Amino acid sequence: MANQQDQSYKSIQVPLSTPLTEEERGAIAGFNEHFHHSDACIVSNGVSLEVRLREMDMNELDRLISNFDKGNNFLLQKISEEVRSIGNFGIRSGKRVFVGYNRERKVKNRAKKEANRGKYYYAKDFSKQNKSFPEAYENKIICGDSLEVLKKLPSNCVDLVFTSPPYNFGLDYADNPDDVNWSAYFDTLFEIFDECIRVLKYGGRIVVNVQPLFSDYIPSHHMISAHFIKRGLIWKGEILWEKNNYNCKYTAWGSWKSPSNPYLKYTWEFLEVFCKGSLKKEGDKENADVLGDDFKKWVYGKWSLAPERSMKEYGHPAMFPESLAKRAMQLFSFQGDLVLDPFVGAGTTAVVAKKTGRRWLGVDISPEYCETAEKRLLSAVDSDYLI
Ligand SMILES: C[S@@+](CC[C@H](N)C(=O)[O-])C[C@H]1O[C@@H](n2cnc3c(N)ncnc32)[C@H](O)[C@@H]1O
Repeated sequence: MANQQDQSYKSIQVPLSTPLTEEERGAIAGFNEHFHHSDACIVSNGVSLEVRLREMDMNELDRLISNFDKGNNFLLQKISEEVRSIGNFGIRSGKRVFVGYNRERKVKNRAKKEANRGKYYYAKDFSKQNKSFPEAYENKIICGDSLEVLKKLPSNCVDLVFTSPPYNFGLDYADNPDDVNWSAYFDTLFEIFDECIRVLKYGGRIVVNVQPLFSDYIPSHHMISAHFIKRGLIWKGEILWEKNNYNCKYTAWGSWKSPSNPYLKYTWEFLEVFCKGSLKKEGDKENADVLGDDFKKWVYGKWSLAPERSMKEYGHPAMFPESLAKRAMQLFSFQGDLVLDPFVGAGTTAVVAKKTGRRWLGVDISPEYCETAEKRLLSAVDSDYLI
């Protein structure tokens, strides 16, 4: 086996607390005989063992261990645990491959192939002339129909739209029906989203939290995404918000124990993320407030966060938690940015914007929810999340 400089094997160090016994030496010799030396071998220097690994059939390793008496297989058992604790490997012909498995996945001539594919939908020429957000609307909750309110804003003045629209589930909202005919629902929603696109800066982002109405077989998250793509926004990605709420314990199986029509259940919602014109957002690095450890976790597109628990307290039936808004804002916008929520409900987006040092505009059609949002904002402390 070649040396580690050229990364032809993965090295695992196994410290020894006592000198090797005769039986353990036998177990090591057995291991080295059993596996081809180019796949795996054990090297001992008296104080520690080095396992050099390229690939391994784990069943073979288990079989080898079971061939030894209990007393003699302890060392191999320890090695097996070390090997199993390696998280990064590929699978080839039933073996775990520890080295070079991702090298093979690389695409040759990537740039040329990307050029052949082109950009498809994303060729739209949005104006790059970003404007200041009007002071009269800054840090406000406005009660009204978003379609009307947003028309009063200039184009290209918002950094981030973060929102969750009414889902048309039939919820009891204070001032608007939530069981509209689907075509009328999407027509209205898309008109408001078109206004969001217009007011969004070049390089700005739209993040929409959606829960599809699975029981009506309406994939709202796909339909909303398709609309943004049709309008030329860049689909940056999709985040799965795992709520772990097994409220769906109810016995709606569709067809019980039969493939005739099983009913699928979900414990998650989606966040669809779009960019206007450019994937890159302008902003000062000093105004980035996402911590390194958080960044590492959050770029994995599955966020496990508990749903909002205070909906009764705030008198709103469909809120998202502050934790969700905080992640989205810190990952996709800078401090000082202007965040718009055209369906602000009980004000969660505005509250989090205030706590993270951003500016906001929240709009909701219900005077009752707007009042709640104002009250929450009064008690929200600026920089509350800062350590
Ligand atoms: C899913 S809720 C948003 C809840 C919010 N994310 C929170 O955490 O409190 C959707 C909100 O949209 C509001 N709404 C519905 N149609 C609207 C419209 N045309 N303009 C403004 N708000 C509207 C509803 O009153 C409702 O509060």
